[in-house]
Amino acid sequence: FEVQEAERDVAVEDEAEWFLTPGDPRRGVAREDPYPLYARLREQRPVLECSQKRWLVTRYADVLGVLRGNSWSRDELAAEGVALDAATLPPSRRLSAFSLLRRDPPDHTRLRRVVAPFFTARGVARWRARVDELTRDLLEAVRDKDSFDFYAEVSRRLPVMVICELLGVPADDMDEFARWAATTLSVLEPGDDPAAVQAAREAAATSCLEFFNALADERVRSTRRPDDLISHMIGVDEDRLSRDELVSTAVMLHIAGHETTANLVSNGLLTLLRHEDQFELLRSDPSLVPNAVEEMLRFDSPARNALTRIAVEPVEVGGVTIPRGDTVYAVLGSANRDGATFTDPDTFDVSRTNNPHLAFGSGIHYCLGANLARIEAQAVFTRLITDYPRLRLVAEPRWRDSFVLRALEGLEVAWE
Ligand code: HEM
Repeated sequence: FEVQEAERDVAVEDEAEWFLTPGDPRRGVAREDPYPLYARLREQRPVLECSQKRWLVTRYADVLGVLRGNSWSRDELAAEGVALDAATLPPSRRLSAFSLLRRDPPDHTRLRRVVAPFFTARGVARWRARVDELTRDLLEAVRDKDSFDFYAEVSRRLPVMVICELLGVPADDMDEFARWAATTLSVLEPGDDPAAVQAAREAAATSCLEFFNALADERVRSTRRPDDLISHMIGVDEDRLSRDELVSTAVMLHIAGHETTANLVSNGLLTLLRHEDQFELLRSDPSLVPNAVEEMLRFDSPARNALTRIAVEPVEVGGVTIPRGDTVYAVLGSANRDGATFTDPDTFDVSRTNNPHLAFGSGIHYCLGANLARIEAQAVFTRLITDYPRLRLVAEPRWRDSFVLRALEGLEVAWE
């Protein structure tokens, strides 16, 4: 029995290590369905040290403790001893380094205050009608198709359109911008030349920076200031928001605003298609849609791993001391399936009532766009169940090889 236990321990550590390495062919199983691995980690190694001073934290209580704790930093440059200097940073790092997501207080607090009013429940309520209108147009555009990729045609387009309008990015530039954003986030596939992939990422990051700088310049020159977020940021004093911070925040909002929301909608639809009884329940009672969206967020969390935190001092997590300077990955997808917090955690239940999921994180970096993502997903599922025929899967979808996101490569469906 002891030998068997030891073998299982080795296996879970190995599996976790492959899982941390996009491109490793051995990741296959956990890529398609990471939940059995998460369950073993929670049970056997809830705080697991992988190579290179990296740790996986998988239990709900520990994940929450990390996200709300004060002994952690989000600032990767500071941890590496690299200066936050736009002149010396490569474009791909400039893209994110100046944004609030990668800063600690007091800079984080200052930057969050600038943009927060746009994203409060009240701030996004004025977008509800527009989001519904865009949803209707996207669904109408696929109504007559025999089969189509729901991810590409609906899930991905809606958040891109919404965030572009909110920021003030002209509609004509949307597609090009989405391509750059995808390139900057691309991961190495087996057989790729790492130098070529990095060069493509840097070129795309340069295009993103130039694009937003030009847009900001145009707004400064213009006498007409539309009611969008870029115009709002232009009006903020330089000591509260520098130009580098403005551009980085705009790019980060654009990327954060569409990738994850697209995954929520696609993963949510896939889950409903695989749980026909729950889909039926929702059709019979559309008032359950907001609740169902929360359950989708819990059950297949779009940002499932890699909420990265760096220990600024030795800190205890689940009885283990993490040394100063080490990196912790708080695994949201695992926390959201922890039986110590959720009843029947592996059951998808659109009428679940007690659902304190962590899909939007927690603490000071709690997702700024949570309210917006919610109204987008609610609009899609409300329209789908009230105005359209049933959908069915036409091909078994594949998951993208990402450690950060729980993302489909596509979702081929047809109307019944
Ligand atoms: C932060 C998830 C949609 C903007 C976060 C974090 C998570 C998250 C987990 C915390 C990161 C951390 O603590 O390290 C999601 C999910 C979404 C979504 C699952 C959709 C279903 C959006 C949208 C926007 C957005 C639509 C903007 C329009 C942000 C920003 C932050 C953030 C700006 C950083 C906040 C800060 O550092 O204070 N998001 N997000 N997100 N998200 Fe989202």
